[in-house]
Amino acid sequence: MYGIILDSLMDCIKQMYGEQVWKRVIGPCGISNSVFTTHKIYHEELVPNLAKAVAELTGKSIESVMQAAGEHFILYIADIKNDTVTKVLGRRFTDFLNGLNCMHDYYRFSFTEIQPPSFHVSKEDSEGLELHYRSRRTFIGYVHYVKGLLLKIASKFYSIDLDVLVTQQGFAGDVMLAVYRLNFQNSQYLAFHKVIAGNMK
Ligand code: HEM
Repeated sequence: MYGIILDSLMDCIKQMYGEQVWKRVIGPCGISNSVFTTHKIYHEELVPNLAKAVAELTGKSIESVMQAAGEHFILYIADIKNDTVTKVLGRRFTDFLNGLNCMHDYYRFSFTEIQPPSFHVSKEDSEGLELHYRSRRTFIGYVHYVKGLLLKIASKFYSIDLDVLVTQQGFAGDVMLAVYRLNFQNSQYLAFHKVIAGNMK
């Protein structure tokens, strides 16, 4: 896993649970100094191990630690690469979700060995949509990491009050998959369909 994810996770742990928690979890996770280089690849087990250690120490669930990490990543990335997120934003929240695969593909220029997740909007209606997430990583915590990412993107960039439900999760061979129902007032979907219907007359 690239350092950018770990650096953001470290930042999140320190801010949410305090420096003391960070100092206590790194030893058992085999981290000797608190520096992660953005473009360096680190051991895959570091994210799951850190999430488990923080959950154990704070009494939180692994799911909530990972959801917080996802929410924090959006603030972190907006901070370090100020316009990165806004550059890749679609006009509608749904456009943004449809563009997630292209966005990770684009990052191949700087993260040449990236193993990106894949996303797919399967249904859309006036009350929201259904989103599929697939990953070669098998840590179930990423399902909640995605939930955090979605909640923060929706509130910060689209002023959308989002409700995220995980409706399915499991494995298809060595691929982890999750299906989310995203409930929000998808008024732009209705407007879009009115335009299409108008043009068909
Ligand atoms: C705009 C800023 C973003 C950048 C620069 C970025 C970049 C990256 C990078 C470098 C990785 C590590 C992959 C690896 O080490 O092989 C990663 C992982 C990941 N990204 Fe993004 N990403 C961004 C936004 C997002 C958003 C908005 C989502 C979803 C809503 C997302 C979902 C994920 C997930 C779930 C992973 C964990 C890996 C996995 O599922 O297999 N990312 N991203």
